[in-house]
Amino acid sequence: MTQRLTLRRPDDWHLHLRDGAMLRAVLPETARHFARAIIMPNLVPPVVTGADATAYRARIMAALPKGMTFSPLMTLYLTESTDPHDVAAAHAAGLVTAVKLYPAGATTNSASGVRDLARVRPVLETMAEIGLPLCIHGEVTHAEVDIFDREKVFLDTVLEPLRRDIPNLKVTLEHVTTRDGIDYVREASGDIGATITTHHLMINRNHILVGGIKPHYYCLPVAKRATHQEALRKAATSGNPRFFLGTDSAPHTDDNKESACGCAGCFTATNTMACLAHVFEEEGALDKLEGFTSLFGPARYGLAPNDATITLVKEEAPVTYPARIETGDGPVTVFDPGHPLFWRVLDQ
Ligand code: DOR
Ligand code: ZN
Repeated sequence: MTQRLTLRRPDDWHLHLRDGAMLRAVLPETARHFARAIIMPNLVPPVVTGADATAYRARIMAALPKGMTFSPLMTLYLTESTDPHDVAAAHAAGLVTAVKLYPAGATTNSASGVRDLARVRPVLETMAEIGLPLCIHGEVTHAEVDIFDREKVFLDTVLEPLRRDIPNLKVTLEHVTTRDGIDYVREASGDIGATITTHHLMINRNHILVGGIKPHYYCLPVAKRATHQEALRKAATSGNPRFFLGTDSAPHTDDNKESACGCAGCFTATNTMACLAHVFEEEGALDKLEGFTSLFGPARYGLAPNDATITLVKEEAPVTYPARIETGDGPVTVFDPGHPLFWRVLDQ
């Protein structure tokens, strides 16, 4: 018997679209299945002001192929010189859905991020007042902290003090990768949620390092040991509305990934829904997939879920999708789950 699954059309609550030729190539990969996405602002230079976000939004809409519909939900990149009035005006005008905090040096294009939280306190207080959420890349960047411990140390030394200081601030802990992060978000009082990526549900650090180094599995925060992956899978499939999808699909060309200093990021836009259906089925939780991909995110951001739907069908034969997509900047490898996938999204 064919298994079919119809869901409200999903949204991606953490996505990198880049700009120019890369934007034109990757946008259809997301828009094919997703209605909306929170667009990360880590361009070079970053999307800092309301005016930057307006201009970037226009470039995204111009890159959308005819016949596709997609709504980008814009974010601002928090810097130590961000003006609270500009943020409040962008929010009041309906231009931005969130502000993104990158600790300086934490990841790709984060050099303009925050070194000293005290310097952005007026912005954070304004955000708490107006109800604008802060999306956080939750890793410390101190050289002496082991890369596998950076999320846990962030929770203890940055996130908890920050939330105690500004209790009304709405926080999304982005791309959570540890059991510690899951426990923190599950148990915290106040307004907090966490996004979980597709790839962190499917890989752990062995996938990156065993049998040769696999640059296409390298991302930040880096995948942790299998016990953490297990905690992420349990949280994602638990039906707890604090946990929802943010793919962090982050395209880099193959020459930038397959290099002596490879860039961080997994490109999952193309096969995310097939991957997620596979994971949720393995966890015996297909009935929880719609909440994770289509209901909890909108609820968290005060938006209605999409009226449109998508249908997934479980095939006998593995589904096919390209190993890489071509972009004007060079090929970008699509995330390889390491095994065949059988759930296919029906063409609309
Ligand atoms: O792996 C990642 N890639 N993590 C991030 O935080 C940024 C992203 C990117 O922009 O490439
Ligand atoms: Zn990201």
